[in-house]
Amino acid sequence: MKHLVLIGFMASGKSTLASLLSPLLNLPIFSTDDWISTQTQKSIPEIFSLYGEEGFRVWERKTFEAILELKQTHIIDCGGGFVLRNHPKDLGRVYYLKVPLKEIQKRLENKEQRLVRPLANDISTLYSQREGIYQLNASKVIENQDQEEILKEVEQDWKKSF
Ligand code: S3P
Repeated sequence: MKHLVLIGFMASGKSTLASLLSPLLNLPIFSTDDWISTQTQKSIPEIFSLYGEEGFRVWERKTFEAILELKQTHIIDCGGGFVLRNHPKDLGRVYYLKVPLKEIQKRLENKEQRLVRPLANDISTLYSQREGIYQLNASKVIENQDQEEILKEVEQDWKKSF
């Protein structure tokens, strides 16, 4: 099964893009964070405080297995650290939403945005550790920062990829 997979740093716009692409391509969304929350009946911050980051990453491995079982093509909205333990290219065509660090920092200035993301405190270290990993795991890097353009770029590439 070939899925449309979105990866990138937290607050890079994966969930927003997924919700815009879904009606356009007529594909359902599978959010890794939502799946983990549903399975555990806990929020992401609760999982981190109960089981630590390691416990959360174990759940992300289980999520990968669950995606392999899907019988229909989905848009896979991956949590920012999903790439640390999984190979998203094994799930389909992977789009890395590359957003500059400054912009990510701006988006995460909002306290509510940080509260739902347990790792949102040391953004610049995490960003430099992860940048190369996202690049390596991408079938295509989306550097455009305009939402309409991003939508067009992903839609065209996805349709061409068959
Ligand atoms: C994480 C990103 C979050 C969530 C968890 C860990 C990360 O998802 O999975 O807080 O390690 O980057 P978003 O990328 O949707 O914020």
